[in-house]
Formats: sequence, C-alpha cells, structure tokens
Amino acid sequence: MRRPPGLSARMKLALSYAGFLAVAGALLLSVVWVYLLRYVPNTSRGLLGISPNRYLLVHTFAPAAAVAMAFLLVFGLVGGWLLAGRMLAPLTSITAAARRAGNGSLSHRIGMEGRRDEFRELSDAFDTMLERLESHVAEQRRFAANASHELRTPLAISQTLLDVAREDPTRNRDEVLARLRVVNTRAIGLTEALLLLSRSDRGTFGREDVDLSLVAEDAAETLLHLAERRGIKLDVTGGTARTRGSAELLLRMVTNLVQNAIVHNLPVGGTVTVHTEARGDASVVRVENTGQPLPPELVPTLVEPFRRGAERARTDEHAGVGLGLAIVHSVVRAHDGTLDLVARPAGGLLVTVRLPGLP
Ligand SMILES: Nc1ncnc2c1ncn2[C@@H]1O[C@H](COP(=O)(O)OP(=O)(O)OP(=O)(O)O)[C@@H](O)[C@H]1O
Ligand SMILES: [Mg+2]
Repeated sequence: MRRPPGLSARMKLALSYAGFLAVAGALLLSVVWVYLLRYVPNTSRGLLGISPNRYLLVHTFAPAAAVAMAFLLVFGLVGGWLLAGRMLAPLTSITAAARRAGNGSLSHRIGMEGRRDEFRELSDAFDTMLERLESHVAEQRRFAANASHELRTPLAISQTLLDVAREDPTRNRDEVLARLRVVNTRAIGLTEALLLLSRSDRGTFGREDVDLSLVAEDAAETLLHLAERRGIKLDVTGGTARTRGSAELLLRMVTNLVQNAIVHNLPVGGTVTVHTEARGDASVVRVENTGQPLPPELVPTLVEPFRRGAERARTDEHAGVGLGLAIVHSVVRAHDGTLDLVARPAGGLLVTVRLPGLP
C-alpha cells in the first residue's frame, strides 16, 4: 500500500526530545530570572519607570540565556536524533523480515540477540509466526502432492484395465467392467473424502443441537453388518452427551472412528466399545478397540492425511486411503473440541473426542 510520506518516527522522537529539553531549559532560566530580580530591587525611577540596575541585568542575562537556549535546542535535536536512531534500529531488521515474508520467502528468521525488551518480544513473536506459516505451507504442499498421487492411482489402474481389454478382445468383458467399477468407486470415495475435509476445514456449516449417543447408535447400526462379517463384537454404552454442531459431520466423525475400530482390529475375536457421556461441561465420545499393539510414537502421526499404519497390504473394499482420522481431526477442530489417541497396552487403540457440552 502506498501512503503519502510523513515525518519519520526518528525525526518525531528527536523533535520531542529537543522540545522537552527546550521547555525544561526555559523553566530553569525563568526561575533564575525571578531569583535575580529579587536581588536587584527596582529602586530609582529611570526610563519607562525601570531602574538602570535592571537595564544592566537584562543586558547581561538575556544574551547568555539566548545562547543557553540555542545550545539546548541543538543538543536536544542532535542527541535525540542519535538516541532515537539507536532505539529504532531493531525495527529495520523486523521491517526487512516482514518485506521478505511478504515476497514469499518464509525461511528467513530475524533471530534478534540481546536481552528481553519490547522489540525482542516483537521479533520473537514474528519469528514464531514465520515458523508456523512455513510449516503450514509445507503441510499444504505435501497434502496436495499426496492427494494428486492418490487420485492418479485409480486413473492409472483404469487405463491399464482398458488397454488390456482392447488388446485382448477374448477377455471376459464382465470381469473387466466389475474391476473398473471397483476402481471407480474408490476414486469417488477419495474425492468425496477430500471434499468433506475441505468443507469441515472451512467451518462453514449449519449448527444444531446434537445428541452424540444417538449419533453413536446411528453409526453402529450402519456398521453392524461390517462388524458381524469380521466377527467383531460391537457395543454401544453410556448416555446422553449433547453438543452443538453439524449432525452430518459429527455422524461422519463417529462413523470413521467406529469403522477404523472394526477394520484395524484383530482377525478373530476382536471387540469394539463406543461410549458416550457428559462429563463436566464437555460431551465425550470414546471408541476403544482390540488389535495389534501400536508403537506409541506412531500414534500421534496417524491423524496426518494419507497416513496409513503398517498393515498396508489390505486389498479388500476397506483398503483405506488414510483420510479417515484426518477428517475426524478436522471435524473435531471445527467444533472446538479435542482429539486424543492412546495406544492400548494390550493392543489396539483408545480414541477420545471431547466436544463442548450443552446443559
Ligand atoms: N482404531 C484403530 N485401531 C488401530 N489402528 C488404527 C485405528 N484407527 C486408525 N488406525 C491406524 O491409523 C491409520 C490411519 O487411519 P485413517 O482412518 O486415517 O486411515 P485408513 O483407515 O487407513 O483409511 P480411510 O481413509 O479409509 O479411513 C490406519 O491405517 C491404521 O493403521
Ligand atoms: Mg479409517
């Protein structure tokens, strides 16, 4: 933004110093003047009723006072200019860093040295902001690269299937069509997950009163079939837990958690427990499942988009893309809640979502 040029802060500070010094000097000289008058009484009448003594006094005092005032003014201006220059020097490096950041270079840091003062605090706050911006931008780039890669995979598989079908007309057409359909369904699922993620990240959705226990029932009902097919015992326990938010997104959140708990479970004899409760002024959903032991250091990374666990080789219809927990995290954030993942010592995961409750 272009603005009309004005006095620099340095000049303003120098003028203020000089102004203060001049006012203080004038006050001091007036006090001296009043004292002098007391010792030179106005006795004999002279020109205009002023005694010759006093004429003499004015003659000697006035030039000395004028020289003193001139000296104070010059001293104030020069001293103020130098002092203000020293004081404002850190601003130059902060401005330079802000310009660089404005031009897109986020890797630069001010790294101001010295003791803590207002400028040091401003510079540290600025550096922290740059750091967060830089990591956010890097995260977005990684996300875009991963999303493109994931979207290309089904397209490439479709192309291979089509090529094979064209070169070998004796192949069973129905089989090719069925495989194309599976690949296409996965691509649609991925695109829908990406759209959902961006919608909940933007936070532009209607809010209504939602009871999480009903949401949990709903999600469990939808996934009961999947759980039965995998021989997993699915339980929903607890009571009312009300919150304000998007019923659709919250259902998606719980569905993703329960689906994970079923899909990433033991091959036989696994259990899943979904528990809802109002605790204090929070509404809590807890999803707990048995499964393989998870390395605790891996657990916090699972919410990153496109992050999949070790058991990648699944090829059934639930071979995930790794967006399930990223969507859960985004929905939780959009509802001002917190998401906690803990590896259970006996294997499997305990996921706790805390959302602001309603009385
Ligand atoms: N309840 C759970 N128990 C054990 N591991 C889990 C659980 N939930 C998630 N994980 C691990 O975290 C990884 C990421 O989960 P996420 O839901 O984001 O992706 P996904 O399930 O692989 O794919 P999808 O996008 O279809 O959900 C999973 O691949 C799995 O390894
Ligand atoms: Mg998942």
